[in-house]
Amino acid sequence: MVPRHRTGISPVLKLIHLTDLHFTPPGVDHLECEPRQRLEQAIESINAEHGDAAFVVITGDLAALGQAAAYEDLKDCLSALRVPYRLCLGNGDHRTRFRETFPEIEVDENGFVQSVVETAAGRLILLDTLCQGVHWGELCALRLAWLSRQLEASGSSPLFLFMHHPPFPIGIDLLDGLRLRDADRLAALLEGRTVRHIFLGHAHRPVAGSWRGIPFSILRSTVSQFALRLGNARPARCYEPPFYAVTLLSKDDVIVHFHDYSYDGPVVAYEPVPDIVVDDEATAADFQKQRKSPR
Ligand SMILES: [Fe+2]
Repeated sequence: MVPRHRTGISPVLKLIHLTDLHFTPPGVDHLECEPRQRLEQAIESINAEHGDAAFVVITGDLAALGQAAAYEDLKDCLSALRVPYRLCLGNGDHRTRFRETFPEIEVDENGFVQSVVETAAGRLILLDTLCQGVHWGELCALRLAWLSRQLEASGSSPLFLFMHHPPFPIGIDLLDGLRLRDADRLAALLEGRTVRHIFLGHAHRPVAGSWRGIPFSILRSTVSQFALRLGNARPARCYEPPFYAVTLLSKDDVIVHFHDYSYDGPVVAYEPVPDIVVDDEATAADFQKQRKSPR
């Protein structure tokens, strides 16, 4: 039985964000990792610690090279997850093969893997930024028209966007060249709307900030990461640990916890920190005076 967590934020929707699984056909390693083993570890952690989450959302690069066998293996692996899941596509994915394996996943009227999920905290809008055959992202006129209608229908509901490609540069040239190419058109649609947060993948790095006033978070992949080499420095991969995000959404607030789920070191009981001790009377008197002073 997973405990229902009480928090100071109310009402809360707990949601798990995962990204860049890079699944391969069974038995095929990828980037010196076993993608299935990494996801199984995440699922075990989610089931044990956050089984009360409303959803798990995975923001693309479900497969490394869009192989049908990879999607079949992914579906089998996800069947162990006790929390309902929603999926976005990334540049490593193949839309047709994905849809053949996951026919139950909602798509828009043009077959793009885009959908809206109603929740107690607001609306989740999942976007399809896959431009088949290349690594950069796109939101074509059809996809933007769908988004425009969803935004119009959302009124003043808080909105949370999920997509693979960041629509902005993050300061790493390689990745910046592969970002979403329709950022201005997306920004024009979002202007004045109640978008609380954008959840992203693609960068294989932990990055947070805001884009044109909208907060965002990007996660590490469950496989390997890009090393932090800014600008045009030669890109490199590294093996910083994977994580997923535990997000707490409410009408007014978004909290994003990054959970290093593969950490297997000690977890020790917290001991309250003793009062600050000073060893001279003048400093002690000064501290005492400051505590009593009105702010
Ligand atoms: Fe990726």
